[in-house]
Amino acid sequence: MRLQGKNMIVTGGASGIGLATVARCLKEGANVVLSDLAGSDGAARAKALDGQGGRCLFKACDVSSTAQVDALVADAAEELGSVDIVFANAGIGGLADATEYTDADYLRIIDINLNGVFRTARAALRQMYRQGSGSIVNCASILGTLGQSGTAAYSAAKGGVVNMTRTLAIEAAPRGVRVNSIGPGYIDTPLLKDLPDDMRRALIALHPIGRLGRDEEVANAVLFLGSDEASFVTGAYLLVDGGYAAGKS
Ligand code: NAI
Repeated sequence: MRLQGKNMIVTGGASGIGLATVARCLKEGANVVLSDLAGSDGAARAKALDGQGGRCLFKACDVSSTAQVDALVADAAEELGSVDIVFANAGIGGLADATEYTDADYLRIIDINLNGVFRTARAALRQMYRQGSGSIVNCASILGTLGQSGTAAYSAAKGGVVNMTRTLAIEAAPRGVRVNSIGPGYIDTPLLKDLPDDMRRALIALHPIGRLGRDEEVANAVLFLGSDEASFVTGAYLLVDGGYAAGKS
C-alpha cells in the first residue's frame, strides 16, 4: 500500500474530486480526515468509508475561516499523531461576465478558492515544519494558467494558487516539506451539474482525449504527489487535463 502509515487531510472532501481522493488514499492505507462544510454529506461519507483501508474521520471546516482551518489541522494532528499529506481541494465555481460580478461575488470566490488554500497550506506548513516532513497538494485548475470567458474571479484565484504554490515550495523545501499544485481539466463532478448540454458538448470538444475527466483520475495524481514516490517533486503544477492545455502552451 502506497500510503501505509500516512495521515492525511482533504478539504472539500464530501463531493467530487475531494471524495474520490479520500476513497483512493484510504485504499492505499492512509488514515484520512475528510473535511467539509458542517452542512455537507461529509459525516455520512466518512462513516461509509471508514475502514476501507485506513481510518476515515469527518471534521467540519469552512476554509473561509482561519480559526476553523487551524483547528482542523491541530485536531487531526492530535487525533492521528501527525499530518503527513494535505490536499487543499475545497473550491466553488461561479460563472459571470466580469461586468456582472458584485464585489461580494468576486471576493467570495477569491476567499474560498485562493485564500482558503493559503489558510490550509499555512496551517499544514506550521505542523509539518514541527515534524520535519510532509506533502501539500493545492487544487488549481487549467484556468490557473489559461483564461476563459466568464471566469475572471475563478481564474484569478486559480492562477494565484499555481504561483503561490511555487513560492511555498521554495520556502518549505529546506524544511523537508513538498508543495505542489494540480491543474485538472473539466472533470465530471457536481461542480459541473448545472451546465446546459450544449455547453457540456463544447467543453468536451476542448479536451483532445474526447471526454471530460473522471474524479478518480485526479485522485490518482494527488495520490502520487502526496506519496513518497514524488520525493523529488516540489513546486510543480501537474496538469490532469486530457490534453486541454497541450495545444495552447
Ligand atoms: P464539488 O462541488 O463536487 O466539491 C467541492 C466541495 O468543496 C464540496 O463538497 C463543497 O461542500 C466543498 N466546499 C465548498 N466551499 C467550501 C468551504 N468554504 N469550505 C470547505 N469546503 C467547501 O467540486 P469538484 O469539482 O470536486 O471541485 C474540487 C476542486 O477541484 C475545486 O477546487 C475546483 O475548483 C477544482 N476543479 C474542478 C474542476 C471540475 O471540472 N470539476 C476543474 C478544475 C479544478
